[in-house]
Amino acid sequence: MSENNSSYISGKESRRITKFNRRVTKKLEKEREEAGKDPSRYTTKMRNPDNVVEFDNVCTYFFTDVGTVKAVDGVNFDIPKHATVGVVGESGCGKSVTSLSLMQLLQRPSGQTVGGEIRFNNGDGSALNIVNTPNSVMEKLRGSQISMIFQEPMTALNPVFRIGDQIDEVIRLHEPEMSEEQVRARTLEMLEMVGIANKEGVYRMYPHELSGGMRQRICIAIALACSPKLIIADEPTTALDVTIQAQILDLLQNLKDKLSSSIMLITHDLGVVAGMADYVVVMYAGRVVEKGTADEIFHHPSHPYTIGLMRSKPVVGQKVDQLYNIPGNVPNPVAMPDYCYFRDRCEMKCDRCARAYPPEIRISDTHVVSCYRYYEEGEVLGVPQSVDVTKL
Ligand SMILES: Nc1ncnc2c1ncn2[C@@H]1O[C@H](COP(=O)(O)OP(=O)(O)OP(=O)(O)O)[C@@H](O)[C@H]1O
Ligand code: SF4
Ligand SMILES: [Mg+2]
Repeated sequence: MSENNSSYISGKESRRITKFNRRVTKKLEKEREEAGKDPSRYTTKMRNPDNVVEFDNVCTYFFTDVGTVKAVDGVNFDIPKHATVGVVGESGCGKSVTSLSLMQLLQRPSGQTVGGEIRFNNGDGSALNIVNTPNSVMEKLRGSQISMIFQEPMTALNPVFRIGDQIDEVIRLHEPEMSEEQVRARTLEMLEMVGIANKEGVYRMYPHELSGGMRQRICIAIALACSPKLIIADEPTTALDVTIQAQILDLLQNLKDKLSSSIMLITHDLGVVAGMADYVVVMYAGRVVEKGTADEIFHHPSHPYTIGLMRSKPVVGQKVDQLYNIPGNVPNPVAMPDYCYFRDRCEMKCDRCARAYPPEIRISDTHVVSCYRYYEEGEVLGVPQSVDVTKL
């Protein structure tokens, strides 16, 4: 792996990286296969049974031609039952990779969760550690217990099948004991639930016959068809215009309450999070830099990055000549520094910031921030644990 910041890689270095990647990914795949054969290695217990998901020091890396990209590196946060958790941060900070790790939909073999646990509550006192769970079990989980809504509804739907058939298929897959009439009745019920007036007509339509907002409603119907415990919505409204955005978000929130599910809402739009989330997780360069209730994050942002994000958000009724933007760039993902990742952009740094990466510091029961500014006043919890890939 290249240790410097230069993007130039010699032929020799490139061959070394390729060889290393091949060896490590082969070993990790083999270990995963072994772990998947033994239920005791992927069965665990929730730290708190009131959570649906617990990310515990999760490390997901990509073994690429230019070196190891630590896309998600020591991520810790919980998704409580019946709650909406917003995950925010700028492009490339690891939001989608966090959710793909939970669904086990990473691009393998180059993408691997190399450390930590992702616990999913089975509801019977036990939990699955998704990291080691075999594909046969994941297939049953995806769509029925955890489902996903993507940014672009057109690409999520199959253009050559009718809407009704696509929803029917999902229900049939997860509820094999249902008769054809029951499946169809359930599909129509779902279409009604997501606010489609002409449900019989839409049942027979193809995706291209619907508007973007309607298609996203169909995607929501598919995602919720089996009453999942967790809905992952990755930028669900980015492709839609503003008026439709609000309707879709309202719909999602109402259905979540109706089905007693939880939502992991991934977005770079703080306005979306403010209106919907109970808790907010702020990510920066593959790590969680701050997490807390929506009220704490919006009214008492504490990490300099979160403070910068809040300042860069337009406020209705407030006139400004120019919106604030955070100066500088995110560090090179294949050669992260050994100090605070935000230091080179931070306007609030102090002497302590010259030290190693800051630990997580609890500043209220629910509010945790990774920044030395709170070292004295908060409870120091610990540092996110990275994985040394040379030891794999
Ligand atoms: N298949 C891949 N191969 C190599 N690197 C990848 C791959 N997928 C993601 N990454 C890297 O992982 C990091 C995190 O990406 P991710 O897609 O999670 O960002 P994000 O926070 O979802 O951004 P956005 O807001 O743009 O969707 C990025 O640096 C990205 O380049
Ligand atoms: S630890 Fe220091 S450099 Fe990092 S965000 Fe906090 S104040 Fe800034
Ligand atoms: Mg993304």
